[in-house]
Amino acid sequence: MIIAIDGPAASGKGTLARRIAAHWALPCLDTGLLYRAVARDVVAASFRPADPWAALAAARGLDLAGLSDPDLRTPAAGDLASIVARIPQVRAALLSYQRNFAAQPGGAVLDGRDIGTVVCPEADVKIYVTASAEVRADRRLRECLARGENVSFEHILADILRRDERDSSRDNAPMRPAHDADLLDTSDLDIEAAFDAAVGLIKRKIGQQGA
Ligand code: CDP
Ligand code: CDP
Repeated sequence: MIIAIDGPAASGKGTLARRIAAHWALPCLDTGLLYRAVARDVVAASFRPADPWAALAAARGLDLAGLSDPDLRTPAAGDLASIVARIPQVRAALLSYQRNFAAQPGGAVLDGRDIGTVVCPEADVKIYVTASAEVRADRRLRECLARGENVSFEHILADILRRDERDSSRDNAPMRPAHDADLLDTSDLDIEAAFDAAVGLIKRKIGQQGA
């Protein structure tokens, strides 16, 4: 069973993906971390994040051990990630890794922007998670404050809107729901309610396939 979870920044897709993966005992991949790590490595090597040659080299040499670095979770790392994510060669270099992950026996859960459209167009279940920009900014702000980062709501909201625009307007694998995705608006749902709604969607999909 392959479950694709896509959606904009801080919509709750990562939390949902991890909960679903634990529930069905599936491996889970946060694909955004790959782009974040590529961007970090490009900048650490003193190249511009938009430099296609440096970004491709970083994508090809990606160190999986470095994906647990907590600095990758910051809004600044997300912003840099969306710059390298526009580079087609970077997307191509990361594609086979993501597809191999999805092809594990028993299946997998992957979350990102283009899982249902490009990485796993044949996924058994596709959920596109949304929430209003204000709700998403509030969620990110709470995370930043919990980490001791000193940022304002307005700054985070602007960051989210800029990233939404960059991710949805790029030519290559733009952020958008697959034509066969179920939409899940979590604006008024806490984590538990979003999980319950997703389990309902998944059971319905699996039931339809078995029928
Ligand atoms: O992966 P994505 O950026 O879409 O979001 P996330 O990291 O899963 O969630 C962002 C933050 O919102 C986390 O701190 C979650 O605990 C929180 N959250 C929430 O408050 N309500 C939800 N329904 C989902 C997530
Ligand atoms: O957690 P959040 O939604 O804020 O970000 P993320 O999922 O870690 O993704 C960071 C950035 O990587 C996104 O803004 C996209 O530009 C890019 N990304 C992508 O292009 N395709 C994916 N499958 C996942 C992330």
